This record gives sequence, C-alpha cells and structure tokens, in this order.
Amino acid sequence: MKIIVKKDYESLSNTAANIIKEEIEKKENFLLGLATGSTPIGTYKELIRFHKEEGLDFSKVVTFNLDEYLNIPYTNSNSYHYFMEENLFKHINVPKDNIHIPDGNAEDVGKFCREYDKKIEDYGGMDLQILGIGENGHIAFNEPDDELYLGTHIAGLTESTIKANSRFFDSIDEVPKKAITMGIGSIMKSKKILLLANGEKKAPMIAELLKQEKVSTKIPASFLLLHPDVVVILDEAAAKDYL
Ligand code: F6R
Repeated sequence: MKIIVKKDYESLSNTAANIIKEEIEKKENFLLGLATGSTPIGTYKELIRFHKEEGLDFSKVVTFNLDEYLNIPYTNSNSYHYFMEENLFKHINVPKDNIHIPDGNAEDVGKFCREYDKKIEDYGGMDLQILGIGENGHIAFNEPDDELYLGTHIAGLTESTIKANSRFFDSIDEVPKKAITMGIGSIMKSKKILLLANGEKKAPMIAELLKQEKVSTKIPASFLLLHPDVVVILDEAAAKDYL
C-alpha cells in the first residue's frame, strides 16, 4: 500500500487525476471503476480539465460505477446516475455505450448483479478502481458486518451511512435504505486501486485502517491491505491521526 499525503483537497485531487490520466494513456479499452460522493468530485474536475485543455481522450475508456441506490429514479438529483452525468460524463467524450452504472430499477435485480460482474470479467477485468471510504470503514456500500459479499449484490445501508448521506437530501427519511453495490471480491479484482480520503471526519478511520495488523469484516476497507497495488491519497486533515 502506497500512501501519499497532500497538503489539501486540491492537490489530492490533482495527484489522483494525474495517476488516472497516466494509466488511461497506457492502454486502449481501459476499464475505469468510478465512485460517487463528495471525495472524487475534485478528481473528476481535474480529469475534465485535462480533457478540455490537454485533450485527454476518453473515447476508448469503459466505465463501471461502484453502486447506485435501489428504486431511485435517475432523474432524482441524488441518484448516482444523475451525479455521474453532472460531475463527469457530460463534460468528457466517453461514449454512452461504454458507461455502466448499477441499475437500481432493474426488473430482476439479482440477475442484474450477476450480469454486472460478468460484464466486467468479459471486458478483461477492471484496470483501475477509484474508491472513497465511509467514516465507518465501508467501501462502496460494503458496510461493516459479520460477513461481506464477494460479488455485486443488494446491500442495506447502516444508520451511520444513512446519516452521512442525509446531507444531500431534504430529510433523513428520504435517504434510500438499500443500494446495489459491487462486492469486496469485485473491488479486489481490480488491477490497481486508488483510495481517496479528505477532511478530518475521515481521520479516525484512516488512522485505524493504516495501523491494522488484521483484516476484519468490521472494517471492510481493511481488505485493501491484501491488495498488491493500492495507492492511498490523503489530504493533511484526513491523515492527521495517522501522521
Ligand atoms: C460512493 C461510495 C461510497 C463513498 C463513501 C465516502 O460511490 O461507494 O463508499 O465513497 O461513502 O463518501 P464521501 O466521498 O461523500 O465522503
């Protein structure tokens, strides 16, 4: 695990975007795993800037998102479909057919989940997965539990995640209680992983994660300690309890 600490969110975002750019430029039909939430917004802004100012080409990039709320219309501004369109896709030249986001409105969600994992495999596997981390150590919507799912599945959100995500909704009652999420196994299969964290709210979990000597399903992100190519990029606020 390589750990990079940057002064602030802007330089964290610039560093992450530069790594992604370098990787995208290495390979045709690059499979890029995307996250939503506040953390990657700055990275997406930088990628958009690289596209507009430096011609970074996304025409051969294939994207797969980590998760989506269950039963939320895509026109709802809190859906991850909406988020991705606004914060990334509409500003770059990734072809529509190359974009994959879990379908929280699928008729047969179980079947959809199995096909999602198969599609990633059929493309040759994820090249780079971007991750944020929950204050409780979740990655994607793999919440702390006695057991963790390997593949894409329906997950219940914990109270702490519902509370954290309620900042985007008018009231906490509107936050969906379930989501489709890639599993720990799907994430671990990515060839490279970028874990991003900023702000002091993440500091206790980052410190706990980085001093782990065990993996634990109670800290889903701890499984990343087993992965051969994880780059953790933090700002000083998120790193403060670890440094
Ligand atoms: C989002 C996701 C979540 C977030 C995490 C951190 O697609 O999978 O695991 O990465 O909840 O969210 P923020 O970045 O809003 O702090």
